[in-house]
Amino acid sequence: MAVAYHKRTHKNGELRITDAGQEVTLVGWVQNYRDHGGMVFVDLRDYTGVTQLKFNPETDPQAHETARALRNEYVIAVLGHVAQRGANINPKLPTGEIEVEIRELDLLNRSKPVPFEITDQCDASEDLRLKNRMLDLRRPQNQSIFRLRHRIASAVRKYFDANGFVEIETPYLTKSTPEGARDYLVPSRVQQGHFYALPQSPQIFKQLFMMSGFDRYAQIVRCFRDEDLRADRQPEFTQVDLEMAFVQADEVMAAVEGCCREIFKQGIGVDIPLPAPRISYQEAMDRYGIDRPDTRFGLELQDVTDILRNIEFAVFRGPIDSGGVVKCIVAKGADKLTRKITDGLTSELRGIGAGGLPLTKVIAGQDGPEFSTGVAKHLQPFCRAVCEVSGAEPGDTIFFAVGSYGDACKHLHYVRTRLGEILELIPDDEWHLLWVVDFPMFEWDEEEKRWFSTHHPFTAPRDEDVDMLDSDPGRVRAKAYDLVLNGTEMAGGSIRIHQPDVQAQVFRLLGIPDEEARAKFQFLMEALAYGAPPHGGIAFGLDRWVMILAKAQSLRDVVAFPKTQRAVCPLTDAPSEVSEGQLRELGIDLRPEVKAKKDQAAGGPEHVHRAHDE
Ligand code: AMO
Repeated sequence: MAVAYHKRTHKNGELRITDAGQEVTLVGWVQNYRDHGGMVFVDLRDYTGVTQLKFNPETDPQAHETARALRNEYVIAVLGHVAQRGANINPKLPTGEIEVEIRELDLLNRSKPVPFEITDQCDASEDLRLKNRMLDLRRPQNQSIFRLRHRIASAVRKYFDANGFVEIETPYLTKSTPEGARDYLVPSRVQQGHFYALPQSPQIFKQLFMMSGFDRYAQIVRCFRDEDLRADRQPEFTQVDLEMAFVQADEVMAAVEGCCREIFKQGIGVDIPLPAPRISYQEAMDRYGIDRPDTRFGLELQDVTDILRNIEFAVFRGPIDSGGVVKCIVAKGADKLTRKITDGLTSELRGIGAGGLPLTKVIAGQDGPEFSTGVAKHLQPFCRAVCEVSGAEPGDTIFFAVGSYGDACKHLHYVRTRLGEILELIPDDEWHLLWVVDFPMFEWDEEEKRWFSTHHPFTAPRDEDVDMLDSDPGRVRAKAYDLVLNGTEMAGGSIRIHQPDVQAQVFRLLGIPDEEARAKFQFLMEALAYGAPPHGGIAFGLDRWVMILAKAQSLRDVVAFPKTQRAVCPLTDAPSEVSEGQLRELGIDLRPEVKAKKDQAAGGPEHVHRAHDE
């Protein structure tokens, strides 16, 4: 009987010395093969690991002959006996003390030569790997990432189920939801000229669930956002989305923390200390220059504006006089900060729009600390005061940022992160969860000269700030909270507005005219008018959790079939052109300039015409 008809008895990472003598049937892919004249050795791989197979011409000449023709990634089934390896133990492999002496071999399938080696050491380009993602996913590292992803998703589902949350699906073909990105639009064939929007989040639907009386909802759901892609953004990504009725922010945060505990435990076996500390948005900005600080290391920002108010140095004085600030960071270990490094940092900062990176070193003078190098001579009179406020000591380097509060924060956040890396201050094995609360409700956009919601327009103002909605919107704080892990925003949520008049007031403040609000959100306004309960919720990025817990560099590593920076899927080649016929059915005509570009790319209109006729 062919081996293939025997049942697999073990997986390839399972056999140990205690199994010696057993008859086993294994299946899998040929990881590599070595023909040592008489003997053929094959490493057989599946998702659990690798087992060495030994083909001896004397045991079964036919199996041995077939084994000599095996190549990488051939798929085989084998039957044999587990044997001790004797002197040739491989201590690096869990199965390294044994090998399986093969009696029968079935070749189940051949493989073309693979474009890259299926190992974790493979150095093929990301593009090549993504083009051949099904092969890339065979690599052990990817197998463990997607199994981690599965464990996290299961832990989340179990947790919410155990805590009374109901999972209900929300539509994908829907109307625009304002989360701040562009929508992906889907044209309607039956209602030509009308478009669905793919949801940027199920925000409005989950609020409707609360108005429908479901009380607690949670869903693992795909969201779509057409925005500039970065390492931690994908155009389609997965949210763990939840909403609760009759709750305050504390209860939503406690529910999320419970879920985090399970994610860490089931995902990577870590007991995360909870509750997570909380800081206000303002404190986060003041101390770290960013609303999602990485609190695994210090290098906090200090404000020295008041000390330097009378400085003559125009580079500092100008911005201070026009309402700006001077902030600084004190770095220990000046010996590591060579001129080459600080020059490099300065040019990186110019790249993000800073005028430069003023810095100076602190040395021990006769009467106390003194500045040397950089902007020392301009700051010397303020040395003692700056050192006192910032805690700088001889041997330290002080980096300054001068300008508007926002710019100074942005630039010093960059410097802080880079110094953390350069000075190796960021521990790799610590998990710092942090809540950032009390976000401003609105942000002023200088270009468009209007207010935007910091979170989204359904977020409620803090009760004590409601009166300022009309008089001083910039000072209104929201009942919003973000969860940050090691400097990455993992989740964002808020208590919602549940009174229709407050919601209408907020739409007006955002410059959304009543008619537009009616056209876009009539169904929400209607629902709010029928006894909407107080409610709130949050959503976290599942992909981001997997990325951080897997210590991956990019979301692309933790999404099975990701899009590249240009929002392209190299495997399927999406997005792709569609036929004239499909466009006609949808009532869509490409704009002339787009058509011209297409024609050019396809080698002229003739070609396109022929292709379409076919
Ligand atoms: P928000 O827009 O803050 O809130 O999104 C919540 C979380 O989703 C993740 N996320 C992303 N992950 C990958 N790629 C992206 N492009 C991307 N964009 C967002 C982040 C983020 O913290 N409806 C509200 C939630 C609510 O108020 O309940 C919302 O979507 O981890």
